[in-house]
Amino acid sequence: MKILVAGGAGYIGSHTIVELYKSGHTVVAVDNLYNAKLKSIKNVEKILKRPVPFYKIDCTDKKRLEKVFAKEKLDAVIMFQGYKAVGESVKKPIAYYRNNIDSALTIIELMDKYNVHNIMFSSSATVYGKNAKSPIKEDSDALKLNDITSPYGETKAMIEKILVDKANADKKFKVVLLRYFNPVGAHDSGLIGEDPNGTPNNLMPYIAKVATGKLPYLKVYGDDYKTKDGTGVRDYIHVVDLALGHVAALKCYKNKKKNTFIYNLGTGKGTSVLDLVKAYEKATGRKVKYKIVERRAGDVDRLYCDPKKAKTELGWDAKYDIVDMCRTSYNFEINNK
Ligand code: UD1
Repeated sequence: MKILVAGGAGYIGSHTIVELYKSGHTVVAVDNLYNAKLKSIKNVEKILKRPVPFYKIDCTDKKRLEKVFAKEKLDAVIMFQGYKAVGESVKKPIAYYRNNIDSALTIIELMDKYNVHNIMFSSSATVYGKNAKSPIKEDSDALKLNDITSPYGETKAMIEKILVDKANADKKFKVVLLRYFNPVGAHDSGLIGEDPNGTPNNLMPYIAKVATGKLPYLKVYGDDYKTKDGTGVRDYIHVVDLALGHVAALKCYKNKKKNTFIYNLGTGKGTSVLDLVKAYEKATGRKVKYKIVERRAGDVDRLYCDPKKAKTELGWDAKYDIVDMCRTSYNFEINNK
């Protein structure tokens, strides 16, 4: 298939482009480079030893994006584009709603106009809200509570809804919603990985900066959660496994019986903050200093998925373990000083 990858220069988009080409597909990448660098596309080209068509375009810019739809004969679109910082979304909700929803609507309208019917969306476990009981299944009752904790999370849920409504109205339109748990790690080459602007908010990139001496210590947000060591438990998934999940999900487009598909992409294994610290030390031989501090507002005890549906229906499951995730994160960090 020829696939438009919106947000292709970003962390998950860039890894997915690599795996799409490796599986015989071709890609056209677009990105406004707001939270990504052109270097990541150049490095994807190095990994693949081939050029990757790239357009620096903001997906809310319909005129410019339309030129891509008019020129390229696309079979599908994968939407990775969008702002993604949870804390920032609380401070700038309107920017999040405008950018994330507008870019999705623009893409869907252009798909309609140019007869592209297959879409895959980068959703998140955040759509389950704070009361979901782990292991979480795709049809979790928690979805009905709609107790999502940030505008970022709301945009994920709204775009899911927009896509499902469109699929209900137009049977040709095939929608795949992929709900990611906590993507971490980097490509084995060390050429692409997570490169957040400023001080990281998420755990793994923060640990990487502590292990390499760029930050003094990790603040562990609370050790009084109802978990085995008191620290928060999450379902960390290696970004290459996640990328392969997208490749596996392309087979949904061949399904003649239905046109909406939803899958969790996670390992189904819970890892605590202190487990991750220990795994990082083991994988890298570097010390990760930490201090226990107050809980972070909005955090929950534990969040991990039931990954069976993706395994049964897509034949996909995660292969990398937590030590691989730490090793590749560190490798990327020291390669990108
Ligand atoms: C958050 C978002 C999720 C998003 C993900 C990006 C919510 C509820 N969660 O997940 O939607 O997809 O980021 O990967 O919107 N921690 C520390 N110290 C730190 C940073 C984190 O102790 O400096 C702890 C947290 O308390 C938590 C765990 O590490 O227990 C993971 O936190 P983080 O990496 O920020 O991810 P989530 O909050 O799970």
